[in-house]
Amino acid sequence: MSSIDYSERIPNNVDLSSDKRLQRALEKWQPAFIDWWNDMGPAGGWQERDVFLRTAVSVDKGGWAQFGFVKMPEYRWGIFLEAPEAGRLVGFGDNAASPVWQEVPGEYRNTLQRIVVTQADTEPASVEQQRWLAQTGPSQYDIRNLFQVNVEEGRHLWAMVYLLHGYFGRDGRDEADALLERRSGDPDKPRILDAFNQPCPDWLTFFCFTTFTDRDGKYQLAALAESGFDPLARTCRFMLTEEAHHLFVGETGVRRIIERACTLMKQDPNGDARAQGGIDLPTIQRWVNYWFSYSVDLFGGEISSNAADFFAAGLKGRYKEMSKYTEHTALGQTHAIPLLRDGRLVVEDVPLRNAMNEVLREEYRDDCQKVLERWNKAVRDQGVTDFEFSLPSTRFHRRQGVYATHAFDPNGNAIPLAEFEAHRAEWLPSDADRAYVASLMKPVHEPGKMANWIAAPPRGIDGRPLDFEYVR
Ligand SMILES: [Fe+2]
Ligand SMILES: [Fe+2]
Repeated sequence: MSSIDYSERIPNNVDLSSDKRLQRALEKWQPAFIDWWNDMGPAGGWQERDVFLRTAVSVDKGGWAQFGFVKMPEYRWGIFLEAPEAGRLVGFGDNAASPVWQEVPGEYRNTLQRIVVTQADTEPASVEQQRWLAQTGPSQYDIRNLFQVNVEEGRHLWAMVYLLHGYFGRDGRDEADALLERRSGDPDKPRILDAFNQPCPDWLTFFCFTTFTDRDGKYQLAALAESGFDPLARTCRFMLTEEAHHLFVGETGVRRIIERACTLMKQDPNGDARAQGGIDLPTIQRWVNYWFSYSVDLFGGEISSNAADFFAAGLKGRYKEMSKYTEHTALGQTHAIPLLRDGRLVVEDVPLRNAMNEVLREEYRDDCQKVLERWNKAVRDQGVTDFEFSLPSTRFHRRQGVYATHAFDPNGNAIPLAEFEAHRAEWLPSDADRAYVASLMKPVHEPGKMANWIAAPPRGIDGRPLDFEYVR
């Protein structure tokens, strides 16, 4: 089950050749995907280069990645699901303890399709957002990591399209086509979620995006990996393996910018990293505030009947539902959420099922907090003692949910809008910040060399040295 058949036109471990109808449908979608990749994937001549990429060879833990040079359009995108668990039962909600579904239950068809399409749409969106970045890549190592993330997001799209084609009939095939028609940031046919329509013009944005927005992906996939719809659960489990690398790219990317900023501060007579051509720590904090707030929006409303329905049906669980919780009905329990009442925050108890988005968002926030603590350790390790990064409140700078109608400071205090505006340039990237960061984005394509604003990573990829030619 776990080995992947690469002799097929579409590599897979789902015995695709035994289902000729599905195989033909996917083989029809494949050229449209390649066209989309060529149009909207990495721009600027990179598609003809040989890139040192990993490809999944098996879904077994530890033994699934093989490294080698490949031209991106020839990457073996395919359909890889984690092995089924014998006798698996729905783990939570009203259908708990009944066998998991191998086909879509009729009553949940629309709901499930919406869940799959929404997740699927984020995968090509991020590739579109990042398509120009290699042109200003700070090193070969980073450009290679960018391309690795890009091809894997392409594979995640394949994973979701397999579900749409395989389980949702005609509607699913139409949705799979539409995934290649929407475009990130296009006013007429935008991607579904807001964060995926934001531009990604510089590498600080890319590293913040992969830290915070890909991490939202991790939590959504983890919640769906608990699903009673077994093909979805198995698909998401394998995607999580790949997602871990994206989070690594983001977290270590920001950390290297921080380390370099600290080094430049120490070199500068006034302790000014910008004067030495670095990205100063307060600017990095503003990028953190921006991307964290856009990413917490992705979890949906704090009080949500949809979230309650997903949980009740057994379609979407909590983070680590089966390993972390012992009670799986979530009935007769509440979750405390601060809500605005006459301009003041009042903590109210919300029925737990209706608070599932917020429960997942809090898990995510706590994970992000740990990332910031590791970044703060990097600051201290550099001997800088007068700066600490802080994660903004999940109420800060929201555009979705119950806090979107009011202004909050980064500590989560309700404030008048005028006060927010007075502090905007201190809390969020200003036009001047963006122009400054953009001015630093000059390509460094020589093997082993790093742009001035980022520290070298401690080691290369798959045991190769740092000055290895990762892109030829
Ligand atoms: Fe993804
Ligand atoms: Fe990702």
